[in-house]
Amino acid sequence: MEAKSFESQVLSKVYEEMQQRYVGYDDPAHSWEHIKRVNRLALYVAEKENADTFIVGMAALMHDIGHLSNDTSLHHADLSMSIAGELLVAYDISAETREAILHAIAAHSFSLGIEPRTLEAKVVRDADRLDSLGAIGILRWAITGLFDAQKKLPPIIPTILSLNGIFSMIVVICSTTSSPSCSNSMEQWLHTQVVFWPRSV
Ligand SMILES: [Fe+2]
Ligand SMILES: [Fe+2]
Repeated sequence: MEAKSFESQVLSKVYEEMQQRYVGYDDPAHSWEHIKRVNRLALYVAEKENADTFIVGMAALMHDIGHLSNDTSLHHADLSMSIAGELLVAYDISAETREAILHAIAAHSFSLGIEPRTLEAKVVRDADRLDSLGAIGILRWAITGLFDAQKKLPPIIPTILSLNGIFSMIVVICSTTSSPSCSNSMEQWLHTQVVFWPRSV
């Protein structure tokens, strides 16, 4: 089987598997819709930046899978790496590619503090951060605050999360120049807000 054909088949299978796993997951801010948007945006940027679309796509699809775990003792990105690592072995992905995908998953998280050292990791991190911007980003933070309030967390927790979201919006720094919204160009911003995201919402 040709490498490209193998990779596109694996990407399709992982896409379907992730879609299935997110069925019934009730955190709207980290839902399958978020994963689809990040995946779509990451692949868009990967094409522009000549990044490896297989590594980017695989990492984008699995970057938040740790949120589905009931284990609260670990950071969700660490859980994502653990779950993704098992899947990558099951799909017979080479050790070198596995490492690249897992690094991109680890580096996507702002709070984990791992700097992306590859172009693919930068693309995935940019795509994830960009989904915290604009109208969709504001909606995600509002939903997160409401969601945590419903779980009867002390009021300070949703407040901190909301502030954290706003702070993330202010300090968001893109690693790749092709990331929509990283440019000051109004045309590019409009492309992101009006053309790109609504298609996947
Ligand atoms: Fe995440
Ligand atoms: Fe995410």
